[in-house]
Amino acid sequence: MARIFISCRIFPETIERLTRAGHEVEMYPGDVVSREELLRGVADAEVLIVPLSTKVDREVLAAAPELKIVANLGVGVDNIDLQEANARKVVVLNTPGVLTETVADLTFALMLAVARRVVELDKRLRVEGFPGWSFMPPYLGRDVWGATLGIVGLGRIGAAVARRAKCFSMKVLYHSRTPKPDLEPELGCRYVPLEELLRESDFVVLCVPLTPETYHLIGEREFSLMKRSAYLVNIARGPVVEEGALVRALKDGRIAGAALDVFEREPEVHPELLELDNVVLTPHIGSATLDTRRRMASLAVAGVLAALRGERPGNLVNPNVWPSKL
Ligand code: NAP
Ligand code: GLV
Repeated sequence: MARIFISCRIFPETIERLTRAGHEVEMYPGDVVSREELLRGVADAEVLIVPLSTKVDREVLAAAPELKIVANLGVGVDNIDLQEANARKVVVLNTPGVLTETVADLTFALMLAVARRVVELDKRLRVEGFPGWSFMPPYLGRDVWGATLGIVGLGRIGAAVARRAKCFSMKVLYHSRTPKPDLEPELGCRYVPLEELLRESDFVVLCVPLTPETYHLIGEREFSLMKRSAYLVNIARGPVVEEGALVRALKDGRIAGAALDVFEREPEVHPELLELDNVVLTPHIGSATLDTRRRMASLAVAGVLAALRGERPGNLVNPNVWPSKL
């Protein structure tokens, strides 16, 4: 029997599955746990299940002497101090794969929304009424179909975005840490250095994890390389983009627009982004569909139960600690 602390609301069936297996579960009943509640909750926990808004840093890990497993309800694990988890031989799990297609859908929703000005014109229609059909500007946008798409980070989500781009007859360039020549024929994409991708693309889509190498990957210099008609789409993590530089590029017309699901200082949003019409903003909802959230919860629990039985989970982030203290 293990003591499990879950730091956000979760499906009743998730709790039932854990308790049926004989474990003792405490769930924080809100969406964003306070630091105080988190430190109290982990004090005697052997398993911690967290959404990505819960920071599992050195202090939290130090406050949890019994902790064996941290399961993240998300694929990106930048909210967890992996070095400290490794040092303490704490197993870290995430939810890769089950959210890939859902996030790729949102990426296309954002691209289409910003290029066709869906949100801006919806807001205007509600306030000013239907403006009358006009052949000429001011309501013209840009085509997504047939445009050049630059994917930064051709992993699971990047590849799913590339597959969708094929149906839109887009030319697809990508830049990734490791070139993927085996995937290129199937996805119809071509590896290029980052500078070339920025110069050539009509849409630059960020699909990398947040790491020390990708922190502020896109800043002043990168915006100066992009076409003035290009759009930036960020579904990765906020700090991959230097937000101040993005605001300046948008205001100076150095790029045409941006669509952002993630922000540098979540839950804060740069106040000047809120005032720009050429920006579409969503509150980190990449994986936010009911079916996908069920799949994520199920994968997290499957990993926890496997690890507690001493079986190596498929969604292990730090294999170097396995089998750890379990
Ligand atoms: P993934 O399969 O691991 O793909 C990440 C890709 O980025 C890999 O191909 C990796 O290259 C590449 N990469 C890593 N560091 C790089 C660098 N310095 N320069 C260029 N490329 C680099 O992960 P995924 O499942 O596609 O998820 C990607 C990220 O999306 C997650 O880490 C998370 O932060 C974000 N995400 C956001 C949402 C949302 O709600 N907005 C939802 C899910 C995920 P290698 O092939 O060499 O490893
Ligand atoms: C969401 O942002 C995730 O990393 O799963």
